[in-house]
Amino acid sequence: MAKATNGNSLAGKTALVTGAASGIGRATAQALRGEGARLILVDQNAEGLAEFTGADVHALPTNLADRAALLKMTERAIGHGWGVDILINAAGITGQGSTLLETKEEIWDLVHAVNSTAPFLLIREIGKHMVEQGKGGRIVNITSSSAHRALSSQTSYGASKAALAQLTRIAAAELGKHDINVNAIAPGLTRTPIVDRAFTPEALAQALVSGPIANLLQRISEPEDIAAVALFLCQPVSRQITGQTVHVSAGAIV
Ligand SMILES: NC(=O)c1ccc[n+]([C@@H]2O[C@H](COP(=O)([O-])OP(=O)(O)OC[C@H]3O[C@@H](n4cnc5c(N)ncnc54)[C@H](O)[C@@H]3O)[C@@H](O)[C@H]2O)c1
Repeated sequence: MAKATNGNSLAGKTALVTGAASGIGRATAQALRGEGARLILVDQNAEGLAEFTGADVHALPTNLADRAALLKMTERAIGHGWGVDILINAAGITGQGSTLLETKEEIWDLVHAVNSTAPFLLIREIGKHMVEQGKGGRIVNITSSSAHRALSSQTSYGASKAALAQLTRIAAAELGKHDINVNAIAPGLTRTPIVDRAFTPEALAQALVSGPIANLLQRISEPEDIAAVALFLCQPVSRQITGQTVHVSAGAIV
């Protein structure tokens, strides 16, 4: 049954979401679908994407660190015939946490390939498509609190997310005249496999109340907390917001 339309419905829109097999990307895809958007889902985890079923979903399993594969995927996404109105860059990796003096080039390159080069290529390719469509568009980049503070052992991750934060502002400056809004969400600690891999439950509880990544509300975010803001940034109600970073971090960055 068709969902009742309202002023903030995304019915008739198509969202391409990366990182959709897990965590924040998956929750964001579900939130957009809940408002009526069709989904083009991208992740290297094909099994995770297969959990989304239905005629309004098109899955394109892709390793975003492989530039040729990424570019082929964008051609297939655009060629699918739905158009792309919304781009969510949520795929990301932390790499092995290591101090700057011990960071290997391979880790630096891989983390940048996924966290900043892939979003750059996607914004370029999907941005051109949005301009050609002439219907405006929305782009949301998932950065991190780590883009906004200096933490030891987050060399590759922090630098790659800071690149994406600046790319957000530059894209907003260039695409605004085409009615394309480009914003970032900087999550703090959020309950997803990335965090499960990095912390024991005890270490996580401690990190939330004291130390460099503690937050004012002393609690972890859920993927749905980030997805709710991503949805808002794709809806008509937020049409005057562009070039911004929304910190959804329970006050980790104030
Ligand atoms: N969880 C947190 O605390 C937190 C905090 C700040 C920012 N973030 C950011 O949020 C975004 C989503 O992370 P998450 O926490 O949901 O983690 P996650 O591990 O649950 O999800 C990340 C997804 O990206 C996909 N991915 C990774 N490398 C890929 C590649 N080369 N090609 C295609 N897909 C790839 C993974 O398969 C996975 O499905 C990331 O950009 C992450 O940096 C997370």
